[in-house]
Amino acid sequence: MALHGMLILRPLRLAGTIFVLATLATATAAAAQALPGCPDYCGDLKVPYPFGTVESCYLGENFFINCTTKINTTTSNFTQIPTAYLMGSDNIVTNISLDGELQILQRVSHDCFYNDRKGVIHISPNSVSYKLQVSPFTISDTRNKLVSIGCDTFAILEGYRQDEERYESGCLSLCGRPNSVPESCSGIGCCTAFIPSGLKNHTVTVSRYKNDSYGDWRCSYAFIVEENYFKFSNASFLEMAKARNLPMVINWEIGDQPCAAAEKSHNFSCKANSKCINRTNSSGYFCMCLPGYGGNPYHPDGCQGNHDPV
Ligand SMILES: *[C@@H]1O[C@H](CO)[C@@H](O)[C@H](O)[C@H]1NC(C)=O
Ligand SMILES: *[C@@H]1O[C@H](CO)[C@@H](O)[C@H](O)[C@H]1NC(C)=O
Ligand SMILES: *[C@@H]1O[C@H](CO)[C@@H](O)[C@H](O)[C@H]1NC(C)=O
Ligand SMILES: *[C@@H]1O[C@H](CO)[C@@H](O)[C@H](O)[C@H]1NC(C)=O
Ligand SMILES: *[C@@H]1O[C@H](CO)[C@@H](O)[C@H](O)[C@H]1NC(C)=O
Ligand SMILES: *[C@@H]1O[C@H](CO)[C@@H](O)[C@H](O)[C@H]1NC(C)=O
Ligand SMILES: *[C@@H]1O[C@H](CO)[C@@H](O)[C@H](O)[C@H]1NC(C)=O
Ligand SMILES: *[C@@H]1O[C@H](CO)[C@@H](O)[C@H](O)[C@H]1NC(C)=O
Ligand SMILES: *[C@@H]1O[C@H](CO)[C@@H](O)[C@H](O)[C@H]1NC(C)=O
Ligand SMILES: *[C@@H]1O[C@H](CO)[C@@H](O)[C@H](O)[C@H]1NC(C)=O
Repeated sequence: MALHGMLILRPLRLAGTIFVLATLATATAAAAQALPGCPDYCGDLKVPYPFGTVESCYLGENFFINCTTKINTTTSNFTQIPTAYLMGSDNIVTNISLDGELQILQRVSHDCFYNDRKGVIHISPNSVSYKLQVSPFTISDTRNKLVSIGCDTFAILEGYRQDEERYESGCLSLCGRPNSVPESCSGIGCCTAFIPSGLKNHTVTVSRYKNDSYGDWRCSYAFIVEENYFKFSNASFLEMAKARNLPMVINWEIGDQPCAAAEKSHNFSCKANSKCINRTNSSGYFCMCLPGYGGNPYHPDGCQGNHDPV
């Protein structure tokens, strides 16, 4: 697919750990994105069909974005921020791409403790793990990685793939002192591992492996994160103490049939000038505009020619 646009990269430097926010300004942005009469934004987030925020504006409940007002209690005047939640969940959506991907924020599992030789004292008050459920969608295995950060850190990823298949993996990171770690994620202070395809839900738990750092406050962190958004450095220890949420990429798809069967059905979603693409390792499909066309392949108007097709 030809991209007629400009990619603007805005590096957001939080003292060493780099989160890159990419903005794509396309020439086709003017084409209708939501159904006629439907809101096409939730705050700053563009919400294109098949997603929608209001009844009859989305394609089935999987594509419902709950756009509600969250009150920021840290500001004295309680500023209200429109926030987009995926389906009925508490997963905040930060980007919806028509190429079958969306970005959500998820919380970081952590364990902060003090070891005084007599025993480990937890702060906060215990190891905190978070569950994430994205079913019927899946966590992208090509865009995300499992990461653990800490000097005595044992992270376990447990989840389910399609057909109720259970999956388990782990990551171990060790080091003497947080300020003597290398600038790469190599097992010293930081560990990274691939995740499997087709994960529908998971829990990341974090615990200690050796218990041998006496008299120190220590924190360990573990999370699945969008690969391009996270770069490890020794400053990551300080950064993680402030990072509550990190981005992750979810693969979405239409229905539960491959293209060949869906094309024959009454409710096929790929409209004019688009093609159907099977979702690898899953049962549904998604749509893309044909070369030379842009816009929203799911919109009833279909894709629009933004220059003469070749
Ligand atoms: C949203 O996701 C698309 C596709 O991954 C990407 O090209 C675009 O830059 C992202 N936009 C923002 C604001 O992150
Ligand atoms: C709440 O407001 C504070 C101060 O303006 C800001 O730093 C913070 O990012 C806001 N939180 C959210 C969730 O927008
Ligand atoms: C509320 O406070 C924030 C940050 O202090 C400020 O940016 C915003 O303009 C204020 N909003 C109103 C309605 O006063
Ligand atoms: C949307 O989220 C709000 C706040 O969490 C909740 O009160 C409301 O019931 C949700 N709406 C739907 C339709 O799920
Ligand atoms: C570490 O300390 C905790 C709490 O004292 C204990 O439950 C755990 O078994 C210890 N782990 C190891 C590997 O010694
Ligand atoms: C994850 O999915 C499996 C299989 O569908 C289910 O048994 C399990 O309860 C789910 N776990 C969570 C935390 O939602
Ligand atoms: C990171 O390492 C550099 C030297 O490589 C050191 O000067 C700096 O203090 C370290 N930062 C932290 C947060 O430990
Ligand atoms: C289309 O209809 C079929 C059969 O009626 C159903 O199984 C499928 O889930 C529907 N797909 C969508 C995207 O609504
Ligand atoms: C999609 O997958 C089905 C089988 O699952 C296959 O028969 C079909 O050729 C595939 N279509 C495309 C466009 O790749
Ligand atoms: C996912 O797809 C890839 C490429 O088609 C294949 O090699 C792999 O075995 C598939 N995994 C599963 C669990 O189906």
